[in-house]
Amino acid sequence: MIVRRVSIVLLALLPVLLAAVAVAAVLFARQGGFAPYRVPRDSTRTVATDGATLARGEYLVRLGDCAACHTTRGGVAFAGGVPFRTSYGTIFSTNITSDPTHGIGDWSADEFAHAMRHGVSRLGPLFPVFPYEQFATLTDTDIDAIYAWLRTVAPSDSAPPANRLDFPASSRDAMIGWRMLYYRPSIATTAAASTDRGQYLVDGAGHCASCHSARGDRYSLPPEGYLAGGSLPVNGWYAPPLDSESLARFSVAELADYLRAGTSPHGTAYGPMAQVIYGSLSALEASDATAIADYLKRVSPRAPKKSASDGIATASNDSVNGAEVYKRTCADCHGDDGEGKAGRYPPLANSIAATAPDPINAVRLVLYGAMAPTTPGNPRPYSMPPFVQQLTSAEIAAVVNYIRRDATPPSRLTPDEIESMHGIVLE
Ligand code: HEC
Ligand code: HEC
Ligand code: HEC
Repeated sequence: MIVRRVSIVLLALLPVLLAAVAVAAVLFARQGGFAPYRVPRDSTRTVATDGATLARGEYLVRLGDCAACHTTRGGVAFAGGVPFRTSYGTIFSTNITSDPTHGIGDWSADEFAHAMRHGVSRLGPLFPVFPYEQFATLTDTDIDAIYAWLRTVAPSDSAPPANRLDFPASSRDAMIGWRMLYYRPSIATTAAASTDRGQYLVDGAGHCASCHSARGDRYSLPPEGYLAGGSLPVNGWYAPPLDSESLARFSVAELADYLRAGTSPHGTAYGPMAQVIYGSLSALEASDATAIADYLKRVSPRAPKKSASDGIATASNDSVNGAEVYKRTCADCHGDDGEGKAGRYPPLANSIAATAPDPINAVRLVLYGAMAPTTPGNPRPYSMPPFVQQLTSAEIAAVVNYIRRDATPPSRLTPDEIESMHGIVLE
């Protein structure tokens, strides 16, 4: 009797089970099927190591900013161990020196290309903190050049600390589920087919989308968020959209200069972008900087995503007069009307910090100050002093609300919100 009832229930569930299996099969096929999990460990293919290849590899490693993520502050170059905090725990970057045991010294060229293309190595599926979603678009020649140059890096036997991740992220196999839901290698294939040098650099080595795109669920990068601007995971800085509308105030030449020098008549780089320019983009060849600028100014804008942190619009009832704080504290450098001082202090009118949907960049700048990157094009950058000691939270809220009065939505920050942004993780 019982057996019969169970089998009737199973029979009734069968279509549901079959449907689930079919969906899983489709999703599995869409993330690339079994191919990504077949790591070519036995391949013996070798690559060219002539001077031109090595120089190209070194340049690409600079543009890929591999050192920013694989070298700890003051640590051995490319020895890994840089911590990345996520809402699932902390992931440490790996050692990519030529050490055969702790680095990638005994990897074949194909094994390296496989990790860059598919985000899977002998460790298993890699976490997308490693921007393989972007590196997948690099050509074979460029990946081989990176491999050739990395093999000239002095070996280090340093092993990164073990990742500290919560279940389910603690198992690398959970990444197979993530890939089924969010990873679409076909996007990489389409981008790689582009003959646009600017797009190739932006989507590939430059991995600009990893910061400048609007992320979807669980750190995914849905195509509709491409370069649409968004908040960086965990540290919260807001990276603005990179498209024809947002960058309209720059000419192609001004934008190309900004990318290499970190300064322009329309704003200077700070926070994570200052680091990207210092460590990576300042090495751009002039023609590549122009190609990137030219491409970005052709990207069509996506619909703006409203930020949650500034969404609760209540009428401003600042107890302090923001315009007054501005005049007293900021106008000396930024001008009475936020027009800036050419070549020294950036304008605030129309700046991203003043107009972005998210107020965090403006708040951080006022709390902790900032310095543009030191580059050959801007060897002695001006800096902005921190005001965390000098102004009260009420004054900071009022002055940020004042400079962001034309933002969409206009800022309505309260002193409590400023307090809650004190001590936010600074990298
Ligand atoms: C935004 C940070 C970031 C950047 C930029 C970055 N990596 Fe990584 N990379 C990581 C992290 C984190 C891991 C570890 C991922 C994991 O354990 O799943 C990693 C893993 C790797 C691996 C796999 C190593 C192994 O033992 O399995 C390789 C190979 C690699 N990176 C090469 C590079 C190269 C080459 C570049 C530059 C072109 C680069 N990475 C740029 C963060 C980064
Ligand atoms: C690690 C994250 C990160 C990466 C990678 C990154 N950016 Fe940025 N970028 C930012 C942040 C945050 C800002 C806002 C702060 C600022 O304006 O300096 C910014 C600002 C900019 C601006 C100024 C925009 C404006 O309207 O004022 C440009 C242009 C830009 N980035 C271009 C790029 C390009 C091109 C790449 C890839 C080659 C790139 N960024 C890679 C984080 C990043
Ligand atoms: C001593 C001169 C000085 C003073 C005073 C000063 N700033 Fe700045 N500010 C700068 C410099 C220099 C930068 C560029 C920093 C960088 O790029 O890292 C800057 C950048 C900014 C930005 C970012 C602009 C952009 O391009 O996105 C904002 C917003 C800002 N300041 C607001 C303020 C406010 C509000 C005050 C007053 C509470 C203030 N600043 C006081 C020098 C100053």
